[in-house]
Amino acid sequence: MKRRSFLIASSSLGAARWLDDPAHAARGDRSKPEVGDLLVYAFGEKAGQIIRPTEVTSEPTMAFPKGGDVVRSGSLHNQLMVVRVDEEALTSRMARYASGPIAVYSASCTHTGCEVNGWLDEEQLVVCPCHGSRFDLNNAAKVVLGPAMKPLAMLMIEADEEVIRIAGRFSRRIGPEPLG
Ligand code: FES
Repeated sequence: MKRRSFLIASSSLGAARWLDDPAHAARGDRSKPEVGDLLVYAFGEKAGQIIRPTEVTSEPTMAFPKGGDVVRSGSLHNQLMVVRVDEEALTSRMARYASGPIAVYSASCTHTGCEVNGWLDEEQLVVCPCHGSRFDLNNAAKVVLGPAMKPLAMLMIEADEEVIRIAGRFSRRIGPEPLG
């Protein structure tokens, strides 16, 4: 486990671990991610440290973008998940946003915008704590269980041996669709 986690048991969610931290309410810089920003650990012992591609696994790591000395942590746009996906399962569109097997998704739920921060190890799905939507990060964050209707946004990145860097925009609008 890459950071402090919490086990819950609930009939609707199964056994999910929180990838987030209860202290996350203390938000910081509200500027949005920018091309060239590096990704750093959002929480835990390594908070603020650079995430190395070799440290990324199939269990997502919560991340913030960092530009210069500024960790951007105060906006929905900055709630990110870094994950190692099955490269062979990537669609051509997904492959354009990922860097090899490393992919970065927005953690802002497309239902009403809660932070998607639960992990179902057995199913290998992320789960939103608010209303239980599940997303498959190995499959372009497709919705496996609603009420969310849309996949999570992917963020275009590039990775080398040392760092993961933002290289473009999100694949779609962040968070919930506007009403009407
Ligand atoms: S906000 Fe995520 S399921 Fe409702």
